[in-house]
Amino acid sequence: LKIYVPPHPLIKHWLGVARDKNTPSTLFKTAMVELGRWLTYEAIREWLPTMDVTVETPLALAPATFLNPETKIAIIPILRAGLTLAEGSQTILPLASTYHLGMIRDEKTLNPTCYLNKLPTQFTADTHILILDPMLATGGTIILAMEEIIKRGGNPDLTRIISVVSAPPALQKLSANYPTLNIYSAMIDEQINDNGFIVPGLGDAGDRAFG
Ligand code: PRP
Repeated sequence: LKIYVPPHPLIKHWLGVARDKNTPSTLFKTAMVELGRWLTYEAIREWLPTMDVTVETPLALAPATFLNPETKIAIIPILRAGLTLAEGSQTILPLASTYHLGMIRDEKTLNPTCYLNKLPTQFTADTHILILDPMLATGGTIILAMEEIIKRGGNPDLTRIISVVSAPPALQKLSANYPTLNIYSAMIDEQINDNGFIVPGLGDAGDRAFG
């Protein structure tokens, strides 16, 4: 498992805005969209296949590198909170397909259930999958999401996860189960409390964005 915490000033800025409890809901949403945008920008490095070609400028021939248009890209936001990140991801991956996964954690047991699954029946083996979930806390949700994705043929070697704050329990579970995964997180926080919230974290992202 590789975990990247990109040292990017815009990511740090919007993380600070998202963490601040005095940030109103509209600005919180903006912060999450921006984090989705910049974390996606970081996550697609050395991941999306490119092809080298030659183009003709108005003056001469020049080598050029394009994204391979054949590459299938799947953005998988985990509802609800992942929807905010998806808005940012989609601006830089306009050709990606978006497949929603609705997951809710039981407030007491912290066990997740999947209430909406819009994954395709079968991913093609070469589909590049980007999972978006602002918080990886106990890890129950992301592990269940991975299971659903793999059932539909998703390839963990081509899967990357974007998260805003990640906690050790989730990272340990992912590392044990999916050692080839790459995770891009704005920050790794030290702990989760008894209610399953990341501390210091950013509170309940779903509630802060959607009420
Ligand atoms: C939160 C969060 C993650 C999940 C992480 O979702 O957005 O999806 O909990 O927790 P875990 O790692 O302990 O499983 P929540 O169930 O609050 O749903 P929401 O996004 O709809 O608010």
